[in-house]
Amino acid sequence: MSTPYGSRAMPLAKAAAFLCCAAVAVALCAGCTHDRDVAAAAAVKLGERMSPGPYGDIARGRYLVRAGDCEACHTAPGGVPFAGDRAVPTPFGTIYSTNITPDPETGIGRWTGADFYRAMHEGIDRLGRHLYPAFPYPWYTRLSRDDVLSIKAYLDTLAPVRQPTRSNDLPWPLDRRGVMAVWNGLYFKDGTYRYDPKRSAQWNRGAYLVKGVGHCGACHSDKNLAGATDPSDPLTGGFGENAYAPSLAGGTRDGLGGWSAQDIAQYLGTGHNSLSAAAGPMAEVVERSTQYMSEADRQAVAVYLKSLPAPKEASLAGIDRSTLDRGAALYVDHCAGCHLAEGQGEQGAFPPLRRNSAVQASSADTLIGVILQGARIPATRGDATGLVMQGFADRLDDAQIADLTTYIRNAWGNRAEAVDADHVEDLRRTLRKSPGG
Ligand code: HEC
Ligand code: HEC
Ligand code: HEC
Repeated sequence: MSTPYGSRAMPLAKAAAFLCCAAVAVALCAGCTHDRDVAAAAAVKLGERMSPGPYGDIARGRYLVRAGDCEACHTAPGGVPFAGDRAVPTPFGTIYSTNITPDPETGIGRWTGADFYRAMHEGIDRLGRHLYPAFPYPWYTRLSRDDVLSIKAYLDTLAPVRQPTRSNDLPWPLDRRGVMAVWNGLYFKDGTYRYDPKRSAQWNRGAYLVKGVGHCGACHSDKNLAGATDPSDPLTGGFGENAYAPSLAGGTRDGLGGWSAQDIAQYLGTGHNSLSAAAGPMAEVVERSTQYMSEADRQAVAVYLKSLPAPKEASLAGIDRSTLDRGAALYVDHCAGCHLAEGQGEQGAFPPLRRNSAVQASSADTLIGVILQGARIPATRGDATGLVMQGFADRLDDAQIADLTTYIRNAWGNRAEAVDADHVEDLRRTLRKSPGG
């Protein structure tokens, strides 16, 4: 999407969020769809050479490998499952996933159970180097040692595949793995999941799956400037490349407050229920991962998610009803004609404003800039429609644009801070000075 600020006018925070949630990009990238069934069948065939593993229970390992969606990231488009070499693009550069088949030279064939546990638990590889959190070890750290060793036992049954991992294409200083030691010091705390005796066994199982192998928060929790998730992993919604993973907490405006546990379990099993259908990255999570969970585990996940409290609607606290009403009226008059009543937009013509990352960015400048200056789809883009949005600089005053912006940022499940007229006035002045403004 092109805006007057260039495409992806994302603040650094969003870009940084990336390292952690490169998963989303992976899930979105075109090549992902090597035929799932063929790949799954191949993996099953390879995996079912059930030699008695020295470490753990192979069948349990296979189940956890699916629940953890390891194959998604560790398989190149069209490549052999688990042989790695999938490019994980980040705004900083590309990280390649590694070969986790038991090949001694290029895979993890020489890794001991302890080496493997250290990688999953601490994000450190066999040679003691730090791994990047594009590998979701901040979640996998919560797995029990037994479960991790079972995963290793399953991976050991795969046919070894010789496929070296390419070196990452990251700029300095991120190309230095040592940087991750600092990052870990600041943002990462290893630690196995701790059973909460005040809760039911079912709740604990759900929490263990969500916060551990399921790494749901890699997409559904927000990230800070350095791409790290709040250690409490609040699941109150987060951004990935081009996709907003909505809150899984108890809110009704944005969250699962209106869903029953049964609705959640059904969604995870089938990708849809009477309230929603999974699209984009979540459709792939369901296809490759949650649909293979046992019904009991899906129920446990649902029970855990239903226990999450509704987050405080902080950004709405200071916004009065009349501001939102004035904004809504302006929206109907000036925007709904193209972006439609619920901000849902029109595929291939008008972008959605609902759950739109540019709209909800911590800085409202992109949104205000589009309202002032308009937007056009660049002619160079293959799917350019030639549709143009005229700017509203001459038609709306600063106070009106502030109300409208505040409304759009808090309508239809969007949530972001309010904007005042002074802010619009400042930006208007800045844009007037800038070339093309
Ligand atoms: C979101 C994508 C993603 C998922 C899901 C994922 N990985 Fe990875 N994994 C990576 C990336 C990327 C690397 C390379 C990191 C680096 O180079 O620092 C990696 C590295 C590893 C390593 C280190 C290997 C080495 O040679 O250094 C192991 C072991 C590993 N992953 C195992 C797993 C297992 C087991 C699962 C599932 C439970 C899994 N991964 C799921 C992306 C992922
Ligand atoms: C790769 C990123 C990613 C991961 C990992 C992920 N999700 Fe999602 N999830 C999304 C996105 C994006 C959506 C929004 C899908 C849509 O709009 O159709 C979503 C939607 C959902 C929804 C529907 C919410 C609603 O309000 O419509 C539920 C429930 C859900 N995810 C549960 C989970 C659980 C449980 C896990 C962990 C087992 C998980 N997700 C892991 C990206 C992810
Ligand atoms: C005549 C139809 C039309 C009207 C009316 C219109 N827009 Fe747009 N808008 C578009 C088109 C077309 C684009 C896509 C341009 C592109 O792809 O870069 C767009 C893009 C946007 C974007 C950028 C979205 C993104 O993801 O980058 C925002 C924000 C936006 N419009 C907000 C508004 C607001 C607010 C109003 C009302 C003041 C409005 N639009 C009125 C057609 C319209």
